[in-house]
Amino acid sequence: MSQTPAIKHYLQFSDLAADEYAYLFTRAALIKKKFKAYEKHQPLVDRTLAMIFEKASTRTRVSFEAGMYQLGGSVVHLTTGDSQLGRAEPIEDSAKVISRMVDLVMIRTFEQTKIESFAAHSRVPVINGLTNEFHPCQILADIFTYIEHRGSIAGKTVAWVGDGNNMANTWLQASEILGFTVHVSTPSGYEVDQSIAGIRSSDSYKVFKDPMEACRGADLVTTDVWTSMGYEAENEARRAAFAEWCVDTEMMRVAQPDALFMHCLPAHRGEEVEAEVIDGPQSVVWDEAENRMHVQKALMEYLLLGRLA
Ligand code: CP
Ligand code: NVA
Repeated sequence: MSQTPAIKHYLQFSDLAADEYAYLFTRAALIKKKFKAYEKHQPLVDRTLAMIFEKASTRTRVSFEAGMYQLGGSVVHLTTGDSQLGRAEPIEDSAKVISRMVDLVMIRTFEQTKIESFAAHSRVPVINGLTNEFHPCQILADIFTYIEHRGSIAGKTVAWVGDGNNMANTWLQASEILGFTVHVSTPSGYEVDQSIAGIRSSDSYKVFKDPMEACRGADLVTTDVWTSMGYEAENEARRAAFAEWCVDTEMMRVAQPDALFMHCLPAHRGEEVEAEVIDGPQSVVWDEAENRMHVQKALMEYLLLGRLA
């Protein structure tokens, strides 16, 4: 009797290995090239993606929805407010039901444990579209964008300025897998926590009190909002604590002369980044946003069909 192959989920960056990332980056480049040439690429005809949003989104919604249609499939969009998820139907029951009707599920939610419970009861692959702890699809797009502009990220230095949040945690996971270093500078009280980040050691990152020192010599400088979704009650305290953690032209000046600036967006100019930086020549934020769609198309294809020639 043949064995059913194990379902491959993408719940955090460490769910894939370096060789799988190498494949995905090559595949995303091909898929992007075809998209730009208006060449059809439809390996997922008759497949359906369910997208579940318990938090707001612009990029994740559009990139998954447009991407799935381009692959020949279709999508179902659910939110907490318009489904039984908002009326306390257990996550396990939701997973059992939804995964009998679709081929793939993308979830944006609060605790990582919630998406893990869903995945544990799902018959189909589950993709993390952002949780409190991680945002793997974003870092997948960011590293693809870095490679497009500068080549391999191995051996490079990424400066993280700001909150020790889901983005920071995911950068740390990526650094262990892909062999680069992260310089992390956060206000005190907002540090990264190695156990939450889910990394094996502190070998791939260094902590700096002064954000300027974190940026010194960096190949990529990146940041995120001071207050992530779900933490709005802390807004005032965070505005005070993060005042010095604004990526400005001085920080970019001490980085490598060809350093890139990235931000997952949405951004608040004048808070975590100066307008001159995000709208300046080193910023690649619009490529980053667009690349969400190309890398996620490669990811969805990979989770459902495996490696293709
Ligand atoms: N970067 C990102 O995930 O954007 P959205 O919140 O708009 O999806
Ligand atoms: N850290 C932010 C990222 C938004 C895309 C948040 O979780 O709200």
